[in-house]
This record gives sequence, structure tokens and C-alpha cells, in this order.
Amino acid sequence: MNDKINSVAVLGAGTMGAGIAALAADQGCKVLLLDINDEAASKGKNAMTADRNPLLKDLSKIENVKIGNFNDNFSDINQYDWICEVVVERLDIKRQIFENIEKYRKDGSVVSSNTSGIPLRDITENMSDRLLKDVCITHFFNPVKIMKLCEVIPGEKTLEVNLNKLKVFISDILGKGVVNAKDTVNFIGNRIGCYWMLKGLHEGKNAREEGISQEISDALMSRPMGLPPTGLYGLIDLIGLDVMYSVGKNLSINLPKDDDGLKYVNLPDEEQKLYDNGQLGRKTGGGFYRIQKLDNGDKLKEVYDLGSGDWREARKIDMEKDLNVILEDSNYGLYSWKVMGSTLMYAADLIPEIADDIVNVDRAMKWGFAWAKGPFEMIDELGPFKCIEKCKKLGSVPKMLQILENSGEKSFYTDDGKFMDISGTYKKISD
Ligand SMILES: NC(=O)c1ccc[n+]([C@@H]2O[C@H](COP(=O)([O-])OP(=O)(O)OC[C@H]3O[C@@H](n4cnc5c(N)ncnc54)[C@H](O)[C@@H]3O)[C@@H](O)[C@H]2O)c1
Repeated sequence: MNDKINSVAVLGAGTMGAGIAALAADQGCKVLLLDINDEAASKGKNAMTADRNPLLKDLSKIENVKIGNFNDNFSDINQYDWICEVVVERLDIKRQIFENIEKYRKDGSVVSSNTSGIPLRDITENMSDRLLKDVCITHFFNPVKIMKLCEVIPGEKTLEVNLNKLKVFISDILGKGVVNAKDTVNFIGNRIGCYWMLKGLHEGKNAREEGISQEISDALMSRPMGLPPTGLYGLIDLIGLDVMYSVGKNLSINLPKDDDGLKYVNLPDEEQKLYDNGQLGRKTGGGFYRIQKLDNGDKLKEVYDLGSGDWREARKIDMEKDLNVILEDSNYGLYSWKVMGSTLMYAADLIPEIADDIVNVDRAMKWGFAWAKGPFEMIDELGPFKCIEKCKKLGSVPKMLQILENSGEKSFYTDDGKFMDISGTYKKISD
């Protein structure tokens, strides 16, 4: 059995598959890229050397990539050390691909699925022990070339040695940041990130009535929070309202019964209308924002005002606030608490459900969503005891904050590189 991975068979040559294949080829690995037909596989290969934004960093590494189709070339996967399934997000299709993987792969190879939210136990249900000991989820983030995060999720029977072999390859060879997640819906990054987005949409109506327009919301939910400049509505335009709709449906089925996120899984009425009309975001020429080309060649940014149901010129907002706005007793403050503060509290309640410790949660949000700080780092900046006080007034205190309070300590992290674990004691942060 190989103790190292040197070659990768990527099954599915779409956005993510081509990205993962390029990542491995760039590092000198032998890569096989398969899809439903040669045309689909070629499209993925061409994206690696495209004139604009090629997926490969070193275009000459295209020589490491061999392509083929599922009908004629599936058995070739027996030459490869890691088989990475990256086909469409459909359980039945992924299961069918997995059955073929098991038929053809060699002993000692490791197998993963790049699903964004389907539980591994569903994909591998009733499959052989031979597969179960070698299988996991590898959840890369889009665009693969840029985003550092790869969440790795083992199954119940996955052997530690096989999982480690893949984790070492992903971190040391592919250069990604591995986060240890669990087989729970949407794993870590999307569980917290989607809560933030869906909760944000649901707070929108009240916010608009309080004079907080979508532009103000985005100005608050970006630099002041240490989040990317798109803010909330701008990010959903990038992702697509259709994706948010499907995410909500998946959450409605798979979230635990008492999860706060269940209140926000359906789109609010205004956003549902946009979804029904196909106004989904950048991919449809506009969602919450659009760019209009004027006759004189200038570009005009417009916002679809959810209150009035009309397009109007988007206002530029100079937002002076910083993270502390979350605890301010102002309309900006109350809104920021409801969207960002509640997301931080949501994250603080999800350990050990979605991750064993706060470090994995913070890394997932920084590496996958480009947040400058993770939820627990933000709580430390705000002052954990101010958050605890606020939570007590509003109802209950999230698990990790309760652990912190009981420990008698004052922060989740220490200046000498330690974090508070679930037992309430400090542990050294590992690389
Ligand atoms: N796009 C993202 O932002 C993102 C991020 C993380 C994870 N993911 C996950 O990665 C996986 C792939 O997503 P993507 O964005 O690359 O999708 P994509 O649509 O770009 O590519 C999917 C590929 O699946 C192939 N396919 C379609 N029908 C098939 C079938 N019946 N049998 C086999 N293959 C079929 C397509 O030819 C296509 O090449 C999904 O599970 C998705 O949830 C996507």
C-alpha cells in the first residue's frame, strides 16, 4: 500500500472538479479528469489554460492531465492513489459514481466526495467495509485556486491512517488549510455562513423600516465586521439566490429539530418573488444589484430596492463603524447584533456538534469565507462577558460562552498561542 498520494483521479470536470484537478496538476501530480462525455471533460481541461483566469498557475503543467469519459475510461482510476468525486450535487448520482469507484479502484487508494452538504453516511449507505475504511468528504471552496479551506470529514469507519494520508497531501502538497469537520449538515463554513446570510435576509424587512437600506446593510456587514466588501446582499448576488433557495431546502431537512437556523430556511416573501422571477444575481444580469452601461460608456450601479420593488441608483455609504457597533444601542447596533451578533452566538452554540474546538470553526470562516477573524476571535475582540451579559438579557447563553464563564477565564484565546477547549482549559493551537 502506498503511504503517500502521488496521483489523483477527479470524477466530474465542472467548476470544482477542474479546479481540484488543476491544483494537483500544478504540484506535479498525475491527474485523470473524467466526466459524462469527452466534451465535458475537455471543457474542464480547457478552463485550466484559458486566456482569462486559467485554473493552472503553471500552464505547462497541463501535460500532467489526462481526460476521458465515465463510459470508456472509468477502469483507468485503478492507476490513481486518490479518487475525488466532484459530480453534481445529487445523492443518487453520487451514489452511482461511488459504486463504480468501488468496482475499479485499487487497494490502498483513498476516496472522497466534494459535496457541499450531502451527509457522507447517505452517500455511502450500505456500501462495503472496503470502501468505508478509505472514504471521507473533502470540501474545497470556490474558487479552488484561491480559497485556502478544505474541510475534511471522515465517516464512522474511516481509518485514521488513510484519513491522515489525504490530509497531509492536501495541506503539504496542495497547500490548502485542512479543517477537521464532522458529518453534519453543511459542515462548518456553510453551516455558519448560510445562517448569517439567511438570517440577514430575514432581518432585512425590519431593517428597511428602521431606515437601514440594503446599501447600509452591506456597508455594515463588510469592513466593520472584517468581512469581504460584497457585504451580505452582494455576496448572495455572487452565489445566486437559487443556490440559497436550495441551501435552505437542504437545511430544512437536515438541521437538528431545535436548531435556531430552522426559522430562516425559507426565503422571505420579497426574496421569494425575486427567485420566482428568475432575478437570481450576477448570473442573470442582476439580483439585489446590477450594473447598467450608460450611453456615454459610464457604468451605473443600481440596487433593487426590496421595499419599493424598483431599481434605483445605489448609494455609496461611508461607514465609520467598527466591530463594536454590534454592542451599540443604536439602530445600526441592534441590526448588527441581529445579523452578525446572532451568527457569532449561533457558532458558539455549535461545539462540539460541528467541530471539536473553536480553532477549526475560526479557521473555516477565515479560510472559506475570507472573514478577517473567526467567530471566537471576534467574540474575544468584543469582550466575551459583554456578549454573555447581552445573551442573558435576551434568553440563553451559548454553550462555549457558558464554558468560558464557568472556567473563570476571560477570553477564548491567549497571547501565547493557546485556545480554550470544550473542557474549559487552554490547549496549544496546532498548525
Ligand atoms: N460551485 C461551488 O461553489 C461549490 C463549492 C463547494 C462544493 N461544491 C460541490 O462540488 C460538486 C460539483 O459542483 P460544481 O460547482 O463543480 O458543479 P458543475 O455543475 O460545475 O459540475 C458538475 C459536473 O457533474 C457532471 N454531471 C452532470 N450530470 C451528471 C451525471 N448524471 N453523472 C455524472 N456526472 C454528471 C457535469 O457534467 C459537470 O461536469 C457538487 O457536489 C457541489 O455541491 C460546489
